[in-house]
Amino acid sequence: MSKSLNSILIPALGGTALFLGAAYGFASRDYGQERISLLEDRVVQVEGHVETAKSAAKAETARASELEAKSVGLEAEVAELTAAVAVARSSGGSLTQGAPQFSGKLGLGREAHIEEIAAWDVDIVPGGIGLPEGRGDAYTGEEVFAEHCAACHGDFAEGVGNWPVLAGGFDTLADKDPVKTVGSYWPYLSTVWDYVNRSMPFGAAQTLDPDDVYAIVAYILYSNDLVDDDFELSHENFAEFEMYNKDGFIIDDRPETEYPIWRTEACMENCKDSVEITMRASVLDVTPEEEGNDQAGATKASDSNDKAAAPDPQPETQVAALDPEMVAKGEKVFKKCSACHQVGDRAKNKTGPVLNGIMGQGFGAVDGFKYSKVFKAAAEEGRVWDAAGMAEFLAKPKSYMKGTKMGFAGLKKEADVQAVIAYLQSFGG
Ligand code: HEC
Ligand code: HEC
Repeated sequence: MSKSLNSILIPALGGTALFLGAAYGFASRDYGQERISLLEDRVVQVEGHVETAKSAAKAETARASELEAKSVGLEAEVAELTAAVAVARSSGGSLTQGAPQFSGKLGLGREAHIEEIAAWDVDIVPGGIGLPEGRGDAYTGEEVFAEHCAACHGDFAEGVGNWPVLAGGFDTLADKDPVKTVGSYWPYLSTVWDYVNRSMPFGAAQTLDPDDVYAIVAYILYSNDLVDDDFELSHENFAEFEMYNKDGFIIDDRPETEYPIWRTEACMENCKDSVEITMRASVLDVTPEEEGNDQAGATKASDSNDKAAAPDPQPETQVAALDPEMVAKGEKVFKKCSACHQVGDRAKNKTGPVLNGIMGQGFGAVDGFKYSKVFKAAAEEGRVWDAAGMAEFLAKPKSYMKGTKMGFAGLKKEADVQAVIAYLQSFGG
């Protein structure tokens, strides 16, 4: 009965035999033949399972050796491919040329191909050296600028929010807070071309083609009032263009002129023949006399703010009595306007009209300036600028004159509005 069984199964069958023995015992005590044959069937079944398990184990062994043979084959294939990759690597990235090896130095890397250097070498230097051929006029540039640049730099290059201003700021370079723009500050036109071509639009650098860059640069010059709107810039006339601030920089000669002075042995003793006191700090008034001085200053400042905040009731009649402090403050505020507006003797219309004598003058009345529809309509209605209207306009130009083309968000501080109005009044009106 157990002839075909493996030794592993003997304990289990021993159990069965014992059980059968017990069953025969029960049978002899009339427990029934049926029950006995049921148990015999069970034994045959278990024997069958054992056979199945054994042949499954055999199959697994066969499969394992098959897989092992296969992995040897794959290893050979990997080795073959690795060799092929090494061959491909040593022939370099170029399809036409093999890579020159740089083995002379460290045995690392390789010399760059001329084409590779050309792809990196995009800089344009003064005189326009390095420029690709191409052309574009300010008129086209306006459209390209509106599409790719105005979101940040404003339609007139005046700068939106805190994004950089690209136009205006002329004659502010010597001020404490100069407005340095492409127009007022940059000495070379090549820098503008290079900068725009290389890095703008911000976030989508180097997506413009050369003609677009020429057109944009022409438009930036136009928005700075340096050229007319039909001005065309190209690789041919590029070198002729001279920037406004081209002479505003000096060569730093300090290494020759100054360093030698500071590099001599320093005098540490009896360096001056005679010493005399020429002035005392208390006389010069650099020492605060008592505590609380600062506070007094602060109160004074806020007093004058209050005064500034109170709207002038009848500015027209008070022109002679303008507060010089207010006018001076207004002049500073006006820097925000000077990207587009000029005042004074030699003022010209720029992006915005000349503002001489604007107070008391009709809306949209400056000769030779192309106003928007709303301004033209206001002019026809005969509206006249007074202090209250001006204050409202300067605080929120777009809501006071819906549809105005003045691209300016408005002055947030009422004090600034009043100051700039005083400043405008100082130019007549
Ligand atoms: C998403 C906003 C954004 C867009 C769009 C954008 N710029 Fe700029 N631009 C900037 C920022 C930010 C800087 C300052 C980058 C810095 O200082 O590193 C800058 C600087 C510049 C400057 C240098 C200004 C200076 O005085 O230093 C120029 C010129 C300029 N951008 C031109 C352009 C032109 C032309 C386009 C369209 C082709 C354009 N930008 C599109 C954000 C933008
Ligand atoms: C981005 C350019 C820009 C800036 C900045 C700007 N303006 Fe204007 N301004 C204009 C334009 C353009 C117009 C013409 C508006 C129109 O026709 O719709 C205008 C119109 C005006 C007018 C009406 C002139 C008239 O003849 O009726 C006044 C006044 C004025 N601006 C004052 C100011 C003052 C003050 C500031 C600074 C606080 C300022 N603007 C800033 C572009 C500008």
